[in-house]
Amino acid sequence: PPLSRSYDPKVIEHFENPRNVGTLDRKSADVGTGLVGAPACGDVMRLSIRVDPATGQIVESVFKTFGCGSAIASSSFATETIKGKRLEEALKISNRQIASELKLPPVKLHCSMLAEDAIKAAIADYRKKQAAAPRAQGPAA
Ligand code: FES
Ligand code: FES
Repeated sequence: PPLSRSYDPKVIEHFENPRNVGTLDRKSADVGTGLVGAPACGDVMRLSIRVDPATGQIVESVFKTFGCGSAIASSSFATETIKGKRLEEALKISNRQIASELKLPPVKLHCSMLAEDAIKAAIADYRKKQAAAPRAQGPAA
């Protein structure tokens, strides 16, 4: 079927105009980065967050995705969704939510899984850094 029939306009829109493409300084203590791959297809997604240590809020979120349109749309949507959220809220975002928001077909579910995994990996990386930092302040976000 033609592309326009199989993909929701939202997917096409994020694919055409991806939000928050970029990178953050990985060495910075307030930045967490997740790099994940999809075994099913070999696509790769890197998502970074910048967190305000005082509030535990994600103040910035960027991604780079080497992958299909659904993966790009999922990561673009994910970065928009988690911005402004506290870490524990961002952890609740599931691939099902992303997939239903973008109306991904079942065969593309793993693309949204990539985005969920990337969010979780970025948060884990941030928390690991904070735990390792001798002068970590603010609430244990
Ligand atoms: Fe070709 Fe993912 S397998 S883009
Ligand atoms: Fe593999 Fe979309 S086809 S991430």
